[in-house]
Amino acid sequence: MNLKENIQLEKLPKHIAIIMDGNGRWAKKQGMIRAFGHENGTKSVRTTVEACAELGVENLTLYAFSTENWNRPKLEVQTLMKLLVSALRKEIKTLQDNNIKLLAIGNLTTLPQKAYKELHEVINKTKNNSRMTLTLALSYGSREEIINTVKEISIKVKNNIISPEIIDESIINEHLYTQNLPDVDLLIRTSGEQRISNFLLWQIAYAELYFTNVLWPDFTKEHLYEAIIEYQKRERRFGKTSEQLS
Ligand code: IPE
Ligand code: IPE
Ligand code: MG
Repeated sequence: MNLKENIQLEKLPKHIAIIMDGNGRWAKKQGMIRAFGHENGTKSVRTTVEACAELGVENLTLYAFSTENWNRPKLEVQTLMKLLVSALRKEIKTLQDNNIKLLAIGNLTTLPQKAYKELHEVINKTKNNSRMTLTLALSYGSREEIINTVKEISIKVKNNIISPEIIDESIINEHLYTQNLPDVDLLIRTSGEQRISNFLLWQIAYAELYFTNVLWPDFTKEHLYEAIIEYQKRERRFGKTSEQLS
């Protein structure tokens, strides 16, 4: 059976976020070093981006490197940063051909200069693309994002730019790294772990969570379709009763 045909295009999630996990275990299973898993993980990134664009998903956000990942062995961090640079160089054409805009969220100034520069080049070159927004979470931590938001709003309050009484969800949204993105509808995590690992804590308030045992380098378009089909079976009540919705 063709899974893609079972997707209801009028009920697509507007924003899919993915915690791409399991590269290391995938490599270990074949007796290879972790870097091999990361390399193969980039293939899954490409197919997932393509699949989302083909379906008409408007926003895809990928967790590529967390603030906590800086604590990994230096060599692994270096490998990941090198892979980022080469992937950006390689994929710019795919992004342009598919009319995809690239954004990045996180504490980007902590990235190595080369990665930072390459990233901004691709962001700049794709800024007028409109089919889909692909956001990479790099050196991203949700708590850090929230701390940053609180600081920015506090400074505005101190300088009388905004008064504390008017602070609401939309003002907070406007100060998060994800400022122009809608809330996450569907959060996918691969590799069997069932945790959030400091990803988009505010933005997933009402997201549907989907966990799969598939390791990220094995993740295919079909796996994405399965996740979307499962999402479409869920009843999103947002606190209301089932009867109110129908
Ligand atoms: C995800 O795979 C990639 C990053 C976190 C950068 P892991 O490297 O976490 O793989 P496992 O979880 O050790 O298998
Ligand atoms: C989360 O995966 C971060 C990314 C996928 C980039 P980790 O593998 O770092 O998370 P934990 O340590 O298992 O929570
Ligand atoms: Mg992991």
